Formats: sequence, C-alpha cells, structure tokens
Amino acid sequence: MPAEQYPEGYPFFSRQTLLQFDEIERLVRLFVQLGASKLRLTGGEPLLRKDLPSLIARLATIDGVDDIAMSTNAILLPRHAQALFNAGLRRVTVSLDSLDADEFLKLSGNRGSLAEVLAGISAAAAAGFERIKINAVIKRGINDQKVLELVEHFRSSACTLRFIEFMDVGTLNGWQSEQVVSSTELFDQINARWPLQPIAANYRGEVARRYRFVDGAGEVGFISSVSKPFCRDCTRARLSADGKLYTCLFAQHGMDLKTPLREGASDAQLLELMGSIWRNRTDRYSELRAAGQTDATYNDDKVEMYQVGG
Ligand SMILES: C[S@@+](CC[C@H](N)C(=O)[O-])C[C@H]1O[C@@H](n2cnc3c(N)ncnc32)[C@H](O)[C@@H]1O
Repeated sequence: MPAEQYPEGYPFFSRQTLLQFDEIERLVRLFVQLGASKLRLTGGEPLLRKDLPSLIARLATIDGVDDIAMSTNAILLPRHAQALFNAGLRRVTVSLDSLDADEFLKLSGNRGSLAEVLAGISAAAAAGFERIKINAVIKRGINDQKVLELVEHFRSSACTLRFIEFMDVGTLNGWQSEQVVSSTELFDQINARWPLQPIAANYRGEVARRYRFVDGAGEVGFISSVSKPFCRDCTRARLSADGKLYTCLFAQHGMDLKTPLREGASDAQLLELMGSIWRNRTDRYSELRAAGQTDATYNDDKVEMYQVGG
C-alpha cells in the first residue's frame, strides 16, 4: 500500500465492515463442503488482526481442512509465532526479497527492517514451524544483483526459498514487463552456481516448480506466473477481509457474500451462491496477458494485491 496513496490517518475498514471470526468460520465450513481443503491466511498483513490465534484454533478443528498456511512479512512473528503454532498453524510463508538492508528498505517503502524479518523467521523456527517457505520477488534494477546471496543464505537452512515472478497485480505497482526477471533467468543463474534437478510436484495444480540442489542442500522453487501462466490449473478462491469472493488474483469484481450472510441466508442458499460463482468463473487474465490479449482499460479496475493477498 503505497504511503502516498494511503497517508497517515487513512480511514481503513471499520470493524463492522470486516468479517468477524464467526462469519469467517461459517464461510470456511461452507467452502469445505464445496471441496476446499487447503486454507491460506494472507493480507494485507495477517498478523495485524487481533486474536489471530483464536481464528486459527477455530479453523484447525474444521473437518476436511487438511492444511492451514499463513503468508506474512514476519515483523510481528517474534510476538505471535508460539501462540499461532500452539493454536494449530503448521505452515508459514515469509516474504523476503533481499538480504541487503538498503534494498529491503527500497522495496518495503522504508517500513520494517531486514533484521526484524530475520528475527521473525528465527522465532517461527524456535516456535516449532518446520519447512518455513521464503517468497522472494525479484525486480530488475532493484534487487536482481544479489540473488545468489539470498539462495546461499537459505539453501542449507530449514527454510525453502521460492521465487515469484513480479506480476501486474492491481493498479498501484507501476508494473512494466521489462522489470520481470523470469524464472528461466533465475534458474540459469542458480543452476550455474549450484546444479539443480527437478522434483515432482506435491499435488496437481502446485504453483511452484520445485528443484533440489544436487549437492543435497535442500530445494528451491519458481513460480512463473508471468512467463508460464497457470490459469487452467488454478483452483484458488480468495475471500477478502470484507467478505467478497474473488475467483482471480486479477479480478475486477468480487462477489459479495457478507450481505447475504448478514441478512440471514441459510447454508443451502450460501452454498448455491458460492457454487454458482465458482462454476461460472471465466477468469484467465494471465493467459490473456501472455497472449497479448488484455486491453488497457481492464487494468484500471483490477483488485489490489492487499485486498486478495497473493
Ligand atoms: C501480498 S503479500 C500479503 C501477505 C503478507 N503481508 C506478506 O508480506 O507476505 C503476499 C505475497 O505476494 C507477493 N507479491 C506482492 N506483490 C507482488 C507482485 N506484484 N508480483 C508477485 N508477487 C507479489 C509478496 O512478495 C508476498 O510474498
């Protein structure tokens, strides 16, 4: 959220606008009835939500939820990691784009610090989290010079590094295709230093292509969302903090679930609504962009990354 567009005192959602934990739990139970089994809490920054461990504890007991993960900038992990683990969270993904303190600040808009993120990762490991994932987005001209340092730091650690191609999500990041450092380019650079071998996907539709280091020092993943779009394998539904259902990271509209929920819709009515939104989805923005078929006006209305969480 660029500071110039969201200045000090910006009126963020009121408590009334946000889905309450009871509402989130009810919707998750319904999503599970429709076939969802993996959850990811993201944001914005999920650790800013008060009492997050109590939400995790509720979600962790839902029959049919096989996996709960959280994406975070890690700044508040030293304070909350243990309570989250105790509540049943087992998977954490930390966003970290550079191990250079100045580059980090350029990318974070001078908020937080590299030292705080590293402390957050250590706190998560100490709390019991295993296989912590580190997501890095490499932007040409900003943090593309020290990629091997990032790889070296994490490759024999308890963390798994994954590179996500820089995407044209939302309307605020001034995306230009020349800024994208492709997975192929990163792979070649890393493979030349530490040879890599492909590993099979964990499940159908896994977004990261995984490789292991031939010398046994763990693995690294590449999410090629720009150079090799995977719209046709996408099985993600995104529920925003204000109760809208988005069927694409690049959607222009979310479908309002909160209003019917608060107006007393039955489970059957909500299931029908959610199911029909899902069955009728036609989004395949990344494929269209890759084929040069997106029109410029589409871009003005895209949902912002902080609303749908990546
Ligand atoms: C939007 S953040 C939200 C969760 C949390 N605040 C965090 O920092 O992880 C989720 C992920 O999206 C990634 N991301 C943000 N903008 C992106 C972009 N334009 N292209 C690719 N990934 C992006 C971030 O690097 C982060 O790993």
